[in-house]
Amino acid sequence: MRVLLTPDYRTLSVEAAALVARAIRAKPDITLGLPTGNTPLGMYEELVRKHRHEGLDFSRVRTFNLDEYLGLAPDHPQSYHAYMRAHFFDHVNIASENTRIPDGSPGVNVDAECGRYEDQIRNVGGIDLLIVGIGSNGHIAFNEPGSSFESRTRVVTLAPETIENAKRHFPGDASIPLSAITIGIRTILNARRILLLASGPGKAEAVERTLRDPVSESVPASTLRLHPDVIAILDESARRR
Ligand code: PGA
Repeated sequence: MRVLLTPDYRTLSVEAAALVARAIRAKPDITLGLPTGNTPLGMYEELVRKHRHEGLDFSRVRTFNLDEYLGLAPDHPQSYHAYMRAHFFDHVNIASENTRIPDGSPGVNVDAECGRYEDQIRNVGGIDLLIVGIGSNGHIAFNEPGSSFESRTRVVTLAPETIENAKRHFPGDASIPLSAITIGIRTILNARRILLLASGPGKAEAVERTLRDPVSESVPASTLRLHPDVIAILDESARRR
């Protein structure tokens, strides 16, 4: 794993967007794996700026999001569908038919949806560049501690700290989903290149364990060390000295 340490979150975001933009320019029909959460917000903002002011072209780009809450329809304001529209898709020239996010709608046939998701990734030739954050418990996408290295897209129960962290995004009276659809560790490791982003002191312990502890299912992000092409961009506050 190559580690790039940046002085602050803004620089992390600019560096991440620059890497993604270079990849798109090198392969205009690239397939990206995309994260949600707080960490990638600055990267999306910078990618939108590059689209508007530097002509970065998304017209042939395909995307697969890493996860979605189970029980939220795509038009639910706290869904990751809504997040992606608000922070990225509505502001660039990406074709909606080229964007995929797991469907966590109430009543969806989850087994069929999970199988379809893996098939669609495979049918486009796999993910070229997958961007992922890290949870304070070391999760990647919603692969919580204990997730198998061989896991694929599936339904998972969210860890208590993940639910706690989600609370700040849900209004007081809204019930927070307890489960989600996530791509698996194996799905992540099958991507050709992986970009890991971590910002803030709340991630320092998870980052330290990811980089230094033995590779283990108890720290899902540590599995990234098994991959030959991972770049971690960390800001100073996420890195313990
Ligand atoms: P965050 O979430 O970017 O909102 O901190 C990252 C994660 O839990 O994977």
